[in-house]
Amino acid sequence: MLKVDNLSTSYSTIDGPVHVINNVDFEIYENEIFGIAGESGCGKTTLLKALYDIVEFPLVIDSGKLILSGEKNGKFFSYETGEIRKTWWNNISYVPQAAQSVLNPIAPLRHQFLDSIPREDRKNEPEEKTLKRVAKYLEELSLSPDLLGAYPFQLSGGMRQRVIIALATFMSPNVVLADEPTTALDVVVQRGILMMLMGLQKRLKNTMVIVSHDMGVHYQITDRMGIMYSGSIIELGETEDIFERPVHPYTQMLVGSLPKVGDKSQKVGIPGRPPALTNPPPGCRFAPRCPYAKDVCLKHAPQFKKVLPGRFAACHMLKREAN
Ligand SMILES: Nc1ncnc2c1ncn2[C@@H]1O[C@H](COP(=O)(O)OP(=O)(O)O)[C@@H](O)[C@H]1O
Ligand SMILES: [Mg+2]
Repeated sequence: MLKVDNLSTSYSTIDGPVHVINNVDFEIYENEIFGIAGESGCGKTTLLKALYDIVEFPLVIDSGKLILSGEKNGKFFSYETGEIRKTWWNNISYVPQAAQSVLNPIAPLRHQFLDSIPREDRKNEPEEKTLKRVAKYLEELSLSPDLLGAYPFQLSGGMRQRVIIALATFMSPNVVLADEPTTALDVVVQRGILMMLMGLQKRLKNTMVIVSHDMGVHYQITDRMGIMYSGSIIELGETEDIFERPVHPYTQMLVGSLPKVGDKSQKVGIPGRPPALTNPPPGCRFAPRCPYAKDVCLKHAPQFKKVLPGRFAACHMLKREAN
């Protein structure tokens, strides 16, 4: 569905390029919720922007590409980096981080829907008719059609997020990307948004990519996930397996630091801090914080390889699994 082929990107700055995505190589499948986790600043938003093909200065692609391919209404499609934007809304849509601020504050929401749905897809249909379809869709999602007449400021944060998700899914895109869709919302509202996303995925049988720094979100709704550290995916696999048996030392510390029901032991965070992306250490970027680091880790960056069936990790201490 969405193939990331050895992608590297950087931000141009006056002090030279800052490499934010480094040799990222993985695939996201049809009919799954794929999670991207990692601490703030590790490059999650940058990766998602590359997936959505919003690569604009100062962000540049240094090497590699993305391929979005699949089938919709019996028609096959395939788009590469630079072409993916042609199919925005139709085959792929995006709920940006802090999405609530993307709504036009001075127009009722119906304008947002009319502006977002590409004209060619409305097929010269009168606005009234499009709005009827939107109203029907909102009702199907248990949202009031009256929302179309409301201004963004009249809605709560949770309701605005629901409207944005409705907008992003209205055209049944094959892939929906959502960046921190529950951050800054309270726990009860978060739960509602997660349920909405899960329900939509079941209904559309499409691909959802959920970025969140909150491991609880991944545990609750993702099927597979990738863990990012300092601009790379360092472990990837089925979410349940990763929580049960993380193999990369960073993931082990990350999962080990999460509270569990009934466990009263004191939890410790991961000592140290992620390296500055402007001046990363040579070799494995986690090595300076890793309890198992050996000489090789400080000198050479580990390859991202298959280490177990369905599991990939970048660590010198793990052996490559025979195919
Ligand atoms: N416009 C920019 N110019 C230079 N560096 C940037 C820019 N945007 C983001 N970065 C760098 O990219 C890194 C990753 O940012 P981001 O992808 O937003 O991380 P995350 O979403 O995981 O918090 C940040 O540490 C920041 O230093
Ligand atoms: Mg982000």
